[in-house]
Amino acid sequence: MDEPGPGPEPSPPPPALDPALIRWSFSVVERRAEHLGVYFYAHLFHHHPGLRAMFPERMSEQRDRLLSALTTAATHVDDTPTLVAYLRDLGFDHRKFGVLPEHYPAVGASLVATLKYFSGAAWTPQVEASWIAAYGVIAQVMVEAAEQVPASVPRYWDAEVTGHRRHGPDLAVLTVRPEPRYPWQPGQYATLTVAEQPRIWRPYSAANAPRADGTLDFHVRRVPGGLLSTALVERVGPGSTVRLGPALGSMTLPVDGLWPGGLLGVAGGTGWAPVRALVEAALGGGLPPQRVTLLVAATDPAAVYDRPTLERLAAAGVRLELVLEGQPAGQAAGQPAGQAAGQPAGQAGPGPDDQAGSQLLHALTRYGVLLRRMAGPQDWPHTYVSGPPAMVEAVRVQLEAYLDVPPERILHDPYGADLPAGGPAAGQPGSAAQWLLLRRERERQLRWIRPRA
Ligand SMILES: Cc1cc2nc3c(=O)[nH]c(=O)nc-3n(C[C@H](O)[C@H](O)[C@H](O)COP(=O)(O)OP(=O)(O)OC[C@H]3O[C@@H](n4cnc5c(N)ncnc54)[C@H](O)[C@@H]3O)c2cc1C
Ligand code: HEM
Repeated sequence: MDEPGPGPEPSPPPPALDPALIRWSFSVVERRAEHLGVYFYAHLFHHHPGLRAMFPERMSEQRDRLLSALTTAATHVDDTPTLVAYLRDLGFDHRKFGVLPEHYPAVGASLVATLKYFSGAAWTPQVEASWIAAYGVIAQVMVEAAEQVPASVPRYWDAEVTGHRRHGPDLAVLTVRPEPRYPWQPGQYATLTVAEQPRIWRPYSAANAPRADGTLDFHVRRVPGGLLSTALVERVGPGSTVRLGPALGSMTLPVDGLWPGGLLGVAGGTGWAPVRALVEAALGGGLPPQRVTLLVAATDPAAVYDRPTLERLAAAGVRLELVLEGQPAGQAAGQPAGQAAGQPAGQAGPGPDDQAGSQLLHALTRYGVLLRRMAGPQDWPHTYVSGPPAMVEAVRVQLEAYLDVPPERILHDPYGADLPAGGPAAGQPGSAAQWLLLRRERERQLRWIRPRA
């Protein structure tokens, strides 16, 4: 028998969780994302048919946010603070679907089976161990967040529709009264669903400061072919019931109650809803109207559905610039409006490539340049930006890269999941998860474009 020789140095056991390996492994399969989604759900529902009833009837690839979030989270698993904050919200929100801790292994097994199926020779034991470990971390954060919610907090709130006002064919303002009382803060959004579109949940921002009677307003614009917006605009009316998931979003009032530079609201289309809630709450809390500036953009005069409120605010001293497509910026609310051009009224609102969008950016720049002559970055107002994704993105870039506004003064909702038809534009994230997780990379790029002094 040969004496055992020293042999090759035993390699150290591969660390179970290797973020670089996960990213590499995902780059092998990501070009086939649409097939991944089909396989993933087929696998999940074949092995766990009982889970099918939790999901909507129609499961288009566009709605495949679960898999997209999972893979985005796994490939950013080393970006701990951003990821944990995102996953905690997600775990809390998943209670509304009826998701329980025992469901997580099933989703994890289907994720691994899917990646393995599409990876071919790139699937190694180390890759598998890494994905399993990453999923374990993700699932644990979500499960713990859900478990920490006191049992007294409902999974969802049913609300009676007490008002339904139509503004033209495509827009409705709904007033709802949740039971029990709904905990939320101005600027936040709720996901809504209705019996007419079972298990179709979509986010809508509350449009008012909290009221004594507990009611909330939602401004809903119907998008062409939209499942839930069509139901909310056309099929729901007083006496109907809508279901609300827990309030989400961090576009809220400053926690210290201080407004060093006042409040700037930049809104397009129904993006006016959360800005309206924030302004109402800030004024109610004692912020003088003269310290509030509003830049409100719409594709045509008819799209300014809340003109009485804007006029009331302007009369109280709020500085208001109404930017209407085809009109010079600077138009005050109530002034006669010119002929609108371009997008039909049914569109979601102005983006940077249309006239109203670019006028909005000009108005913002004029205001910003004026302000910066008088004050430094720390005196910049708390800036709330809300509207179509492309508008929010353009305004954010304008503020950060060209007006040097500190990022913590710019507040907006996640917007990747709300991209218009045609899919994400080049270089843009394809889901709210991706948006959130890629934000840091984009901040680095912005600094590169214009290094700060
Ligand atoms: C944080 C957040 C807050 C939101 N707040 C509001 C709000 O206050 N009021 C409001 O009306 N909407 C709001 N939205 C948009 C809303 O959640 C839905 O995306 C929208 O109503 C479309 O849903 P749907 O089910 O009708 O359309 P879907 O059935 O999801 O989509 C149908 C088609 O329309 C396209 N599409 C989806 N959304 C849009 C869009 N916004 N513009 C153009 N095309 C679109 C889709 O790509 C698809 O082709 C918000 C979105 C987010 C992320
Ligand atoms: C651990 C990882 C998980 C992640 C990262 C994740 C992520 C997501 C995301 C981002 C969405 C979209 C939310 C929205 O649009 O508001 C979603 C929806 C959903 N998730 Fe999860 N999820 C996970 C686990 C689970 C589990 C274990 C279940 C239970 C089987 C589940 C069931 C659902 C359902 C039913 C939906 C709604 C689907 C739809 O509207 O199309 N998820 N998930």
